[in-house]
Parts: sequence; C-alpha cells; structure tokens
Amino acid sequence: MSRGGLLFVVVVVAAASADPRLMNITIYHVNSLEDGVVPVNMDSSNLAGDVFFDLRSIVLPVECGTQYAWTGDCDNAELTASDAVISKLVLEVDTRYGEYARCNYCDNGTDPFSGLACQAGEYFCTCGDYMQSYQCTETEVGKENISIAFANFTCTWDTYVVAPWRCWSTNVAQKTGGLWYSTLSTGECPGPNCTWRLVSVDKVVSKNCSNDVIFDAVESADQVACFDACGYPRNTSSACWIGCFYQTVLGPEGMLPTPYPGFKHSGMSLDDLVDAWTRPFNFDDPAMGGCPPIDWHDVDFPFNNDRVPGAADRIS
Ligand SMILES: *[C@@H]1O[C@H](CO)[C@@H](O)[C@H](O)[C@H]1NC(C)=O
Ligand SMILES: *[C@@H]1O[C@H](CO)[C@@H](O)[C@H](O)[C@H]1NC(C)=O
Ligand SMILES: *[C@@H]1O[C@H](CO)[C@@H](O)[C@H](O)[C@H]1NC(C)=O
Ligand SMILES: *[C@@H]1O[C@H](CO)[C@@H](O)[C@H](O)[C@H]1NC(C)=O
Ligand SMILES: *[C@@H]1O[C@H](CO)[C@@H](O)[C@H](O)[C@H]1NC(C)=O
Ligand SMILES: *[C@@H]1O[C@H](CO)[C@@H](O)[C@H](O)[C@H]1NC(C)=O
Ligand SMILES: *[C@@H]1O[C@H](CO)[C@@H](O)[C@H](O)[C@H]1NC(C)=O
Repeated sequence: MSRGGLLFVVVVVAAASADPRLMNITIYHVNSLEDGVVPVNMDSSNLAGDVFFDLRSIVLPVECGTQYAWTGDCDNAELTASDAVISKLVLEVDTRYGEYARCNYCDNGTDPFSGLACQAGEYFCTCGDYMQSYQCTETEVGKENISIAFANFTCTWDTYVVAPWRCWSTNVAQKTGGLWYSTLSTGECPGPNCTWRLVSVDKVVSKNCSNDVIFDAVESADQVACFDACGYPRNTSSACWIGCFYQTVLGPEGMLPTPYPGFKHSGMSLDDLVDAWTRPFNFDDPAMGGCPPIDWHDVDFPFNNDRVPGAADRIS
C-alpha cells in the first residue's frame, strides 16, 4: 500500500470515531474503597476542585464541635471513612453538561444534605436549590465551576465574631477555583441515555497517605513557626494546628472577612498546593512525597464489579 493510501485509511477511522461532543477528562474522587472506584452516582472533581474539597474539610474538627456546624459537613460519611481512598480516573464524557448533582453516601436513611429519605448504604443525588432539593432525574454529566458557585459564600464580620473558621473554608474557594462533576447511573454507558464512561483507573491511593504528604508540605511552608507552638506529633483535630494550617495556606489576610483580593497570592501559591496534591499520584516512593498504589483489583465492589475493565475475568 502506498503511503497516501495508509494515511487515507487512518484519517477515515479517526473521523468516524471522533465525536466532537466527547472529551476525556481526568478526575479525582474520594470515597470508601468498598464503594468502588467507578463514580456511579458520585461527585468528583478536577485537580483544583479536589484541592478545594480537601482544604474545606480541614476545618471540620473545629466546626463540628460548635453549635454553628452544618450537618451536611459533619455527617458526611465519605470524609470520615477510615478506609477512604482517592482515585484518579479518566472518564469520557459528553460535554453537553447539565446541573451539578449533590451526591452523597446515604448512611442511615436520611440524606444529611437535603433531609430527604434515601436508601441506606447507597449513594443518593439531589438537584435544585439547597432549600428545595429533590432527587435528580437528569442523565447529563453535571458540572459546577467553584469560582462561580461559591462566589456568594462570602464571610461577614458578623459571622467572623462567632465562627471565624467559616471564613477560612469559604475564602479557600476564591484561591483554588476548580470544577466539580457528577456522574449519575442514569447516564452511564452503555445505555439509552449514555453520557459518560470510565476509560481508565490511573491510580488509587489511601486518603491517609495523601493527607500525610499534604500536611508535610503545608507544615514545611510555614515561615512563622506557627505549628511549633502546637507541639508534636501533629494533632489535626486541635484548633492550634487547624488555625496554623489555614494561616499557612491562605496567609493571615486570607483568614479574614472581605479580604483584599490580593490574598489569593499570599500564603501558599496554587502551584505549590497543586504540587502537594499531585505527588501521591506521580510518585510511589514516600521519600519523594509519593504514595504506594492501592491494589483495588481484588476488592469486591458491591455495585461496581461489572463496570471495572477486566473485572468480568476475575469475578466468577
Ligand atoms: C479517550 O481515551 C480513550 C483511551 O485512550 C480513547 O479510546 C478515546 O477515543 C478517547 N476519547 C476521546 C473523546 O478523546
Ligand atoms: C487512617 O487514619 C485513621 C485516623 O487516624 C485511622 O482510623 C484509619 O485506620 C487509617 N486507615 C488506614 C487504612 O490506615
Ligand atoms: C440520620 O442522619 C441524619 C443526618 O445526618 C440525622 O439528622 C438523623 O438524626 C439520623 N437519624 C438517625 C435515626 O440516626
Ligand atoms: C450570587 O448573587 C448574585 C447577586 O445577587 C446573583 O445574581 C447570582 O445568581 C448569585 N450566584 C449564585 C451562584 O447563586
Ligand atoms: C470558572 O469561571 C470563571 C469565571 O467565569 C472563569 O474565569 C474560570 O476560567 C472558570 N474555571 C474553569 C476551571 O473553567
Ligand atoms: C432515558 O431518557 C428518557 C427521556 O428522558 C426516559 O424516558 C427514559 O426513562 C430514560 N431511560 C433510562 C434507562 O434511564
Ligand atoms: C487533639 O486535639 C483535640 C482537640 O483539642 C483533643 O480533644 C485531643 O485530646 C487531642 N489529641 C491528642 C492525642 O492530644
């Protein structure tokens, strides 16, 4: 065959398979390993969105000890599972995105975010306003831009004098930005309303390992010996450590209400944060700030077995 002929064949094949509405996206999601690595009825994020999700949750031990706590944060079983993992995946998605669905693990029959009844032991997704939520029926992949969605979550001085920690977690959104996604079972491929499919599982690491890497990076960026005053070993539940964590990440200015917009550039840079978050995926060796991969192939996933590539061969 002539070169011209070969080229022609290649072009035709590529043209036939490339649907311009499809795109491969790399996403991260946090959950209990036994719930499976495929995000069916789950939320996930791009890298900056994952940094935001994690940074917000650092405040929980302080928040959840007060009367101002929000149950949607404090009862989120995904965050507290002792076998929590972070999975890095590639999904092929239809980019005609829909509304972002708030998907959460239903622990006891009541969804902590909406108060709606849900099936215990399964993931449950709600759509609509926070105040008037309903179970999602959409099939599109949901997408939310953090900079836009959290733009109105600004902290006031009235809030600051009773719950200063609320300012720390809201200001983080303006620093990280990022995207959150939701992938519902109704849109899974193959299927009549197919909008997304798993392409690959790149790496799964334990949340504990990732936390250690991230906490080390933040402690090393502390230039005012803030953490030294808290004592060692680190106690991630203490107000001292949590306060130092946000002060190092956001800079002192970033901990206040209505911060001068320049606070986005004080504290740690977004590049340094992203570096700390990606190390566990880029390296296996703890000496490099890496995390060993978790072998998820042998885990029995209650509702994911038939969705994982190669799983049909090992489940019989
Ligand atoms: C996504 O990646 C898979 C595996 O590399 C590839 O087969 C597929 O064509 C890609 N999809 C798009 C839309 O690029
Ligand atoms: C992760 O850390 C938590 C809290 O320290 C602990 O309860 C849990 O057993 C650890 N999980 C693993 C898999 O090491
Ligand atoms: C179930 O969880 C919800 C939300 O976290 C909580 O408000 C409720 O009290 C719990 N119900 C029971 C029966 O434990
Ligand atoms: C934020 O507030 C503005 C002004 O009230 C409003 O137009 C906008 O829709 C709000 N954004 C969100 C995401 O709620
Ligand atoms: C989110 O929206 C903001 C404001 O419109 C835009 O500047 C930013 O690029 C968007 N972020 C992403 C990740 O698309
Ligand atoms: C697919 O979408 C159509 C139209 O929204 C709906 O009637 C149908 O029930 C959906 N099928 C599945 C399997 O979700
Ligand atoms: C960590 O801090 C919390 C909150 O101050 C405290 O209750 C707990 O006892 C501390 N843990 C250790 C091991 O010191």
